[in-house]
Amino acid sequence: MNTGQKNSPEQYISDTVDLSVDLGGLRLKNPVTAASGTFGYGREYEPFADISRLGAVIVKGTTLKPTPGNPAPRIYETASGMLNSIGLENPGIEVFLDIHLPYLLERGVQVIANIAGNTFEDNETLGAMIRRQSGVAAIELNISCPNVEKGGMHFGTDPDMVFQVVNAVKKVTDLPVIPKLSPNVSDITIIAQAAQAGGADALSMINTLMGMAIDVKKRKPVLGNIFGGLSGPAIKPVALRMIYQVHKEIDIPILGGGGIMNVTDVLEFIMAGSSAVSIGTANFVQPGISVQLINELADYMVANNVAKISDLVGAAVYK
Ligand SMILES: Cc1cc2nc3c(=O)[nH]c(=O)nc-3n(C[C@H](O)[C@H](O)[C@H](O)COP(=O)(O)O)c2cc1C
Repeated sequence: MNTGQKNSPEQYISDTVDLSVDLGGLRLKNPVTAASGTFGYGREYEPFADISRLGAVIVKGTTLKPTPGNPAPRIYETASGMLNSIGLENPGIEVFLDIHLPYLLERGVQVIANIAGNTFEDNETLGAMIRRQSGVAAIELNISCPNVEKGGMHFGTDPDMVFQVVNAVKKVTDLPVIPKLSPNVSDITIIAQAAQAGGADALSMINTLMGMAIDVKKRKPVLGNIFGGLSGPAIKPVALRMIYQVHKEIDIPILGGGGIMNVTDVLEFIMAGSSAVSIGTANFVQPGISVQLINELADYMVANNVAKISDLVGAAVYK
């Protein structure tokens, strides 16, 4: 008998409380996931945390071909957050499937692939390459990127395009499809409804908010790409508001995130209607934070007599 195993924090937690959640057919052992682009493929975080404890790792956005990303500088710290204009730098789908995916699967963690095609066809091809057989657990479909066929208009800003791209990916894969919504729209509920109508199994929200910074000495924008995505605590109230609004309008689960830094933030996202959460910028501040939050969530449940975390989903939403 392996007593070390039996007394592990994970075993203790699962004997005490039920942290498992359903994310549109994808069963997660706990609601805490690592957000795309902030966790690489897990390797850099291994010295800081047992990544197998996570509900899932959502990997860096994958394009069909290797992508070099945007010109430097690509990162800038702001009050209560950061701007990034990484621009989907990644080695392409084949390297992901052949090298990075096996590494993560060997660690025993569920992997959610994040795909980012620049055309409908690219998204279809990526979706068709990532099926259950590959070992991936679900697809997060990043619709915050430009559609080059529509003059660079972002997929996620137009309900018809959202419907079509979600529908196209759903048809080619047997995995749950989780579109990741952009907050850079005037009515997020219309986009969420279009994604649901297109066949989304769950929704991921929110991606970064478009922003910029100016270098006053140089009298130029700071970022090489001029604009970048704002993340971190600054966007948390916006994310909560959007999740609250969407939770009231749709029937599918939400993977919520945006500025989560501590367990109270996690609880706020769950009570606003998120079934699971993603931890992004916080990983850069405290690389072991995601696993720590799982332990703290379990402590909260014990202290507050919450047997199942799923009972808290949407608890603060007025009907
Ligand atoms: C450096 C960086 C890279 C990111 N790359 C991606 C990406 O490739 N695909 C994606 O869908 N989101 C990407 N994101 C967005 C995050 O996954 C997350 O949705 C966002 O940062 C908000 O969460 P946070 O405030 O907890 O960081 C990236 C964010 C950062 C900071």
